Amino acid sequence: MTAAAPRPGTNMGPPEPRIDGRLKVTGEARFGSDFPLGRPAYGYLVTSTIARGRIAGIDRDEALRVAGVLDILTYENTTELKDLKYAPGGGGPTSSIQGFGPEIQYAGQIVALVVADSFESAREGARAVRVSYVPEAPSAGFDTAGTTESQDEADLPQAGDAKRAFDEADIQLDVTYETPTQHHNPIELFTTSCAWLDNQLTIYEPSQFVHGLKANAAGKLGIAIEDVRVINPYVGGAFGSKAQFSPRTGLVALAARRLNRPVKLVATRDQGFTIQTYRAETRQRIRIGAARSGKISSFIHEGWEVTSRPDPYSVSGVEDSARLYGFGSVATRVTLVHADRNTPGFMRSPPVMPYIYGLESAMDELAAALNMDPVELRRVNDSMTDATGKRWSTRSLMTCYDQAAERFGWNARTPRPGSMRDGDWLVGWGCASAIYPTHVGAAAARVRVTADGHATVQIAAHDLGTGAYTVIGQIAAEHLDLPLGAIHVELGNSDLPPAPVAGGSNTTASACSAVMKACKAISAKLRGSATTLDAAEQRTSRALEEGFDRLGVGALEEYAEYLPPGAPPDAIKKLYAGTPYLGGGSKGEKLMYATGAEFVEVRIHELTREIRVSRIVGAFAAGRLMNTRTAHSQYMGAMIWGIGSALHEATEIDRRNARYVNTNLADYLMPVNADIRQLDVILVPEQDDSVNPVGVKGIGELGNVGTAAALANAVYHATGVRVRTLPIRLEKLLV
Ligand code: MOS
Repeated sequence: MTAAAPRPGTNMGPPEPRIDGRLKVTGEARFGSDFPLGRPAYGYLVTSTIARGRIAGIDRDEALRVAGVLDILTYENTTELKDLKYAPGGGGPTSSIQGFGPEIQYAGQIVALVVADSFESAREGARAVRVSYVPEAPSAGFDTAGTTESQDEADLPQAGDAKRAFDEADIQLDVTYETPTQHHNPIELFTTSCAWLDNQLTIYEPSQFVHGLKANAAGKLGIAIEDVRVINPYVGGAFGSKAQFSPRTGLVALAARRLNRPVKLVATRDQGFTIQTYRAETRQRIRIGAARSGKISSFIHEGWEVTSRPDPYSVSGVEDSARLYGFGSVATRVTLVHADRNTPGFMRSPPVMPYIYGLESAMDELAAALNMDPVELRRVNDSMTDATGKRWSTRSLMTCYDQAAERFGWNARTPRPGSMRDGDWLVGWGCASAIYPTHVGAAAARVRVTADGHATVQIAAHDLGTGAYTVIGQIAAEHLDLPLGAIHVELGNSDLPPAPVAGGSNTTASACSAVMKACKAISAKLRGSATTLDAAEQRTSRALEEGFDRLGVGALEEYAEYLPPGAPPDAIKKLYAGTPYLGGGSKGEKLMYATGAEFVEVRIHELTREIRVSRIVGAFAAGRLMNTRTAHSQYMGAMIWGIGSALHEATEIDRRNARYVNTNLADYLMPVNADIRQLDVILVPEQDDSVNPVGVKGIGELGNVGTAAALANAVYHATGVRVRTLPIRLEKLLV
């Protein structure tokens, strides 16, 4: 056992190495654009240079004269493409990004696809397309003229008279926080390759939802859903960016059909900032009323979020912030600010990431106002019941705090800001809570076992680099009593039974629940025919062999559908048609959440204000952990992402032109190895078999949730400067 492969505690699976690890490190794993296609043509996108207005004309002549250019698709010659409606909830289209002229809804909207014999010709052709516009003054977002507002229509949590309780409270905190636009920037770019054979379309495209991509591509092209197939076994990172349907898919498919030849598109890094979604910019006003004991009588959380003109996309993390503690009363509200921007969407740890940063920063401010230890403030407000009366199914928040605090050495902290130092470096310690809703979706799976003791597991789930292949293999091995090496797992192919969109950390819970059901059915058949064997004997390969002999078959196959409680009866039918169902979190009778506590040490140079994160300890409880190695890796990656969110990441916006400025990996800052020192992960045992059949709460996003607030709180402790606008860069500390 090593730090990267921790010894499993109670209710934790072994640290099996990733079953796709060798393929990944040897380069044999095929990503979307790696699939060899016969004599492909290459696409290159042209995107709009204005953020608002209309296309006056598109002159293609010069581009068509570029050697090798075969076709140029614009709105004028693609009228067979259908309009797709905005689908809330993830996995579907967004109206702004689907826009393809003549109306321009945001800067960087796709206006043409140039197709050529080579990538270079396509690129040269794209640069020769002359698009003229009738521009209008755009609105970039907050603080720019011309935006409109709408209210989030969702039934957000309210309980008691929070306004009055606030007015009557001993301690009143009224603070505002801001979080920036951020872009996912997975290493794998947005790519699409399309090939037609006998009117059947095959799409190779990185996707977090292959059944959704299949259905939406069929809709976009106006063809039957059974004529489309999506192949996407590996995804080179997604973080929410590959969940929504992109209009490029329809264009590439159409180009391939016209040319009767496969077409490949690899969009550029800067185009990736505008042809998909991103994390919405937020502002949050938080009011907390508390007694001198620290008990919170009132929590009022209001959010403002930037979105596109047409789409009511809402991050809406007040749904979760309102549940985190036993608040006496709660009022929440989210206002959408519509601007000339592409529609935002899921980005790592939606919806909680911006909103828990707000709440957990405010908790630290309250602790300071009360002169109280921040951990004790959480303890005073820890509760199994939220203000609306809903109970948590299991809640290990304070266990996480206690274990992380001990490992961190928190009791050596002196509370006064600036009171801890090491030479020229000011040392700051801060902490924050992490929660993530336990999502689980409707899913289906097929499992086949052959008499020689091998099994194939098929489900159109997605491995975004998270370890899904491995944990799905593990659940099958466990329920079939076979070694992991005997299990072959197939994912990421729309010919397989559907799984939900790989968002909201639901994949392990949803996919494993369906796979487990299929495996149990096979085991029951094998056992049912071997009633003379006792339990120990059943666990041998001889039992399997005898089972097959008695049944007189060479293989057994089971298809199973898992429907979470509360799902409509037609949830799987809808899933086949491209609409996922996700339940859990705060939706059901009980509150289902994974919890964690993060402690951060920062060192800030007294004169230059250079900020270094010297260590982080995170303790997390998330029900059953399938694999301590992949779990540890998920939490590490998430905390590193949290450092990026707190200190580095922001998409800079030219507010006159509503354009993104730093659309490359040199100017879009994110942490590199030199930014990461000591990260310590504690896997806190927890058992909650009520959340789903496998008892898994989901871990992909949890580790990212508390980091930014813990870090901001540590910066305050080091310097006495409270930065309420992310990211925290050194110029904000030069005060
Ligand atoms: Mo995750 S950001 O919900 O894909």
